[in-house]
Amino acid sequence: MKILVVGSGGREHALAWKLAQSPRMSRIYVAPGNAGTAAEPGCTNVALSSIDELLAFARSERVAFTVVGPEAPLAEGIVDAFRAADQRIFGPSRACARLESSKEFAKAFMQRHGIPTAAYASFDAAASAHDYLERNPGPIVIKADGLAAGKGVVVPATPEEAHAAVEAMLVTGTLGAAGKRVVIEQFLAGEEASFIAMVDGRNVLALATSQDHKRLHDGDRGPNTGGMGAYSPAPVVTPRMHARVMREVIDPVVAGMSAEGSPYTGFLYAGLMIEGERLNVLEFNCRLGDPETQPILFRLKSDLVGLIEAALNGGLDKVEPQWDRRVALAVVLAAAGYPESPRKGDPIEGLAEAGAEDVHVFHAGTAAAGDRIVTSGGRVLAVTALGDNIRIAQRRAYAVADQIRFEGVQMRRDIGHRASGALRRGSAAR
Ligand code: AMP
Ligand code: GLY
Repeated sequence: MKILVVGSGGREHALAWKLAQSPRMSRIYVAPGNAGTAAEPGCTNVALSSIDELLAFARSERVAFTVVGPEAPLAEGIVDAFRAADQRIFGPSRACARLESSKEFAKAFMQRHGIPTAAYASFDAAASAHDYLERNPGPIVIKADGLAAGKGVVVPATPEEAHAAVEAMLVTGTLGAAGKRVVIEQFLAGEEASFIAMVDGRNVLALATSQDHKRLHDGDRGPNTGGMGAYSPAPVVTPRMHARVMREVIDPVVAGMSAEGSPYTGFLYAGLMIEGERLNVLEFNCRLGDPETQPILFRLKSDLVGLIEAALNGGLDKVEPQWDRRVALAVVLAAAGYPESPRKGDPIEGLAEAGAEDVHVFHAGTAAAGDRIVTSGGRVLAVTALGDNIRIAQRRAYAVADQIRFEGVQMRRDIGHRASGALRRGSAAR
């Protein structure tokens, strides 16, 4: 069986690595992939990116199905195009992907379906946005409506910063079309968690929970990034909270999308804010998280091919995935200059020697240059390790990460700090 994975990041390397372990697999194609997927046993990179090219390739190679990693092709309608051509693909339609591609759509959808989220207002004229800020002096967050590759959210520390963000998005146009409309919402305190499920239009299969680390620096300081590390499970999602997320968030999305004529299929990611008993949705993504996918799939013992096939056949209610009971943790090594302007082309040393049992080095922004591997994107690698507890997973991941070197590498030293705090306090996780 052949499968096509669309994308080039750490998430896609983890997907390809996991799919390639299936006993039913003959070849995983990754479009366009990276230096890690090029070297992964059973995987081959193909230099394609447009939807037309991908569709023609899937047809001519007779791939059994396609899995899409990133949001951009989903928002562009890759799933609609494949379906119209009778090619099997796992992901949401363009209409469903609006949950991620338009913050305003997502907020209005949550309001229509009673899903807990911060109060908000949306604006496309700067004057009314400034006026709203004057009249609502409490802590707020400003979000570009459209896809902005992780740069669309501003948590202003002062009213001046809030006005400046409105001005930058609506007047100067720093985010282009994505910032032509903004959502201003109430600031929420608490602890974040990533809750990702597979959805087949009707049935839901929750994957293991995880937690990302969005800020660049230790202690959750510095600018927001795509994610500097993640681990699974997330202790903040207690069994009770898990049941509430299913009932109050995931099930209403699936029912609401069906009721609005666009049944949801694909991975569904709810970014949650939890504070005691308070549960709110910060955002939806219509795909797996990066780097959350790396620790989640590291813990998945079941064949991912079987789970995706069950989803494609509308049978997610008939499968039960098995999870490794251990903790998995991924540490991201990012390029110099990330997230503002990552530098490319730095040679990466120590990769060949870096390794240990229950550790895998997933590649993200890497490329081959002759016989060397060089940096080629913001997040370069995600070293992922399993351990009987969070401390052991941390130790193993950092021991391997420390063997890898490139100029200007940026790496947080405290991935998993919340869970190791919970471990100290003796709370249970699932
Ligand atoms: P989003 O892309 O909407 O998840 O926002 C990116 C990050 O901004 C989140 O992971 C949070 O850390 C932060 N954030 C977003 N919305 C809020 C909010 N209403 N209150 C506090 N922090 C937020
Ligand atoms: N790590 C957060 C995301 O994938 O959006």
